Amino acid sequence: MSVSQPSPTMEQQSFFDVIRERRSVRSYDPEVKISREELTEILQETTLAPSAANLQPWRFLVIDSPELKQKLLPIAFNQQQVVEASAVIAVLGDLESIRMAEKIYGQAVDAGFMPADTAKSFVERYTGMYSSMPPEAIRQIVYTDGGLVSMQLMLVARAKGYDTVPMAGYDKQKFTEAFGISDRYAPVMLIAIGKAAKPGHPTTRLPIEDVTFFNEMPNE
Ligand SMILES: Cc1cc2nc3c(=O)[nH]c(=O)nc-3n(C[C@H](O)[C@H](O)[C@H](O)COP(=O)(O)O)c2cc1C
Repeated sequence: MSVSQPSPTMEQQSFFDVIRERRSVRSYDPEVKISREELTEILQETTLAPSAANLQPWRFLVIDSPELKQKLLPIAFNQQQVVEASAVIAVLGDLESIRMAEKIYGQAVDAGFMPADTAKSFVERYTGMYSSMPPEAIRQIVYTDGGLVSMQLMLVARAKGYDTVPMAGYDKQKFTEAFGISDRYAPVMLIAIGKAAKPGHPTTRLPIEDVTFFNEMPNE
């Protein structure tokens, strides 16, 4: 059996640079402001991430006002990146993402990617599935999709020369109350984005043989 080994192209090399250069950065140049246009461009690329049934349950609350960043600071246990970074993006998962199914599959029809009757049957199938799913299962889906989109956001940011840090270190209850976020939206994580003032600490990874198993998991 032959295994194809494509020679690395320029794009592949730059992609590997991006994933190797991404580090969690906790010290930002407070003078650097990423414009809303650029943030929107970053988020547009970000949303090319995959999601269950392509329902794209991610919602982004971009916090770029100095007052609101100050308000977030104690909620995020005084992590300075919250105020120093250009913006903090709260990644939220819409627990009612199924409400967008018709729009999403309608877009696929308009783009010529899918016949209308196929789109209709997808929407019916997913609507039935989601209405009978336990809420915990839907929550699990939005966390999974939210994790994928968060990673994509950090890589897109790095590719554009910006730095990020993902944050679970904040009080979710206080955050949703302070920012008026309804129960419909589950907070996934906060991501600070800006220009590093100090590089992130180098980190190590477990050897690949500690985390990878072929065909069978170890018993213990
Ligand atoms: C879900 C999640 C939550 C995290 N929460 C925080 C946090 O609250 N504060 C922080 O400084 N770093 C946080 N981190 C960053 C990790 O510490 C960091 O990713 C890890 O040490 C590996 O370093 P690297 O990202 O530079 O490769 C978080 C990372 C993840 C994935």
